[in-house]
Amino acid sequence: MSEKKAPEKMIKILLVDDEVNIAKALRRLLMDADLYEIYIANSGADALTLLTKHSDIGVIISDQRMPEMTGVEFLQKARDIVPEAIRILLTGYADIEASIAAINKGAVFRYLSKPWDDNSILQAVAEAARNFWLVAENRRLNALVLKQKDELQEWNQRLKQRVLDQTATIRARGDELSISNKLLKKSFDETIKTLAGLFELRDSRASGHSRNVAELVRAMAGKLGLPEEEKNQICSAGLLHDIGKIGISDKVLVKLPQELDSQERQEYQTHVIRGQTAIDMVPTLREVSVLIRHHHERYDGKGFPDKLKGDAIPLGARIICAVDMFERKLNQFPECDALSSALNSLEMEWGTSLDPTMRAALEESAQEVYTYLDLSSEVIEIKIAPKDLKPGMQLRRDLHSGTGVLLLKQGIIFDENSIDAVKRCFMIDPFEREICVMIKRDELNVFCESV
Ligand SMILES: [Fe+2]
Ligand SMILES: [Fe+2]
Repeated sequence: MSEKKAPEKMIKILLVDDEVNIAKALRRLLMDADLYEIYIANSGADALTLLTKHSDIGVIISDQRMPEMTGVEFLQKARDIVPEAIRILLTGYADIEASIAAINKGAVFRYLSKPWDDNSILQAVAEAARNFWLVAENRRLNALVLKQKDELQEWNQRLKQRVLDQTATIRARGDELSISNKLLKKSFDETIKTLAGLFELRDSRASGHSRNVAELVRAMAGKLGLPEEEKNQICSAGLLHDIGKIGISDKVLVKLPQELDSQERQEYQTHVIRGQTAIDMVPTLREVSVLIRHHHERYDGKGFPDKLKGDAIPLGARIICAVDMFERKLNQFPECDALSSALNSLEMEWGTSLDPTMRAALEESAQEVYTYLDLSSEVIEIKIAPKDLKPGMQLRRDLHSGTGVLLLKQGIIFDENSIDAVKRCFMIDPFEREICVMIKRDELNVFCESV
């Protein structure tokens, strides 16, 4: 029963009264405000039917005294259908107690006395309309907040997933890079070993010297607590320290240092500068080349080429100097007591040619690296063909190819890779001798059965 077309935000009001004239009078009054869309019902039952069709009604004004259903009874039922609507009871003086009880139960927002005062009715309806809009707006805002909260949670979840995906991608790329770096490093190390091996091919006495020096230098650098990068540099310098001897004449090369005359000694001493010059051309090996230059400086300042003294000599060069001297001494004694003899022979060198602070590190490292020189009752030496090599066996003597290339140096423990490399080399460049290895005595029976 709409009286006129409602504007967009116009509030809908339901008037319920069994007396048609009273309902119409109220409608006239409220229509003057031009803010409301008015509906009328003449009984509680009709009003309930109407509410089911217009669930957006915002204010209900009901008479209390009606046949069949009182205003309070109607408003209680109306609350179930349109809980948000503001409910007002029109009541005579006699029904005030029932009205207050209804308010207390929450069925009614407020009551107005009959007969009414127009201003009071208009004010009450305006207030009810305001309340309705406030509650509706509040509800709208709450719904908006909840929706935004859900969207935010969803966005957050997506963001988390994205971060996790990207982290996984970065990690995978990091792993790939790490593998590439390891391969590069391996290839770099192999290149340096090949360079070092070139010189050893020329001077048979130097066979394995560079590799032995490098291995012991690495162990010493570890004992001295040097960082990994510095350890690698010193180790590379250990491998390459005598690379400058490639340019030295055979006549000088075959002599021992004490057999050289002054001219030959001068030529011999150029190997440190030649070595530095050659290696300095590789930018990543520049610091290594400095260690090569100084590996013959003496702690007392009587070495060459710059007569540096004490701590002025780079630490790596002091380490290489000590190891170089020890390794050469090691080859001068019978194998049975080479280790202790070589260490004892350095007694006079500490504090003169060698840095005395290196002594403990050298002795401990040498004993660890050269354990294979010390055959105990638990270990036995056997000679076997390449096909019989097993992982875990330790190489007792340097292994050379048929044409004399050093393949593996004494002391290494065989693994699947090194066994495979030896077998392949045996096909390409066969060596005649059997391979001398050490195994634990109690593993001998197992080995014999498997062969
Ligand atoms: Fe040297
Ligand atoms: Fe050397």
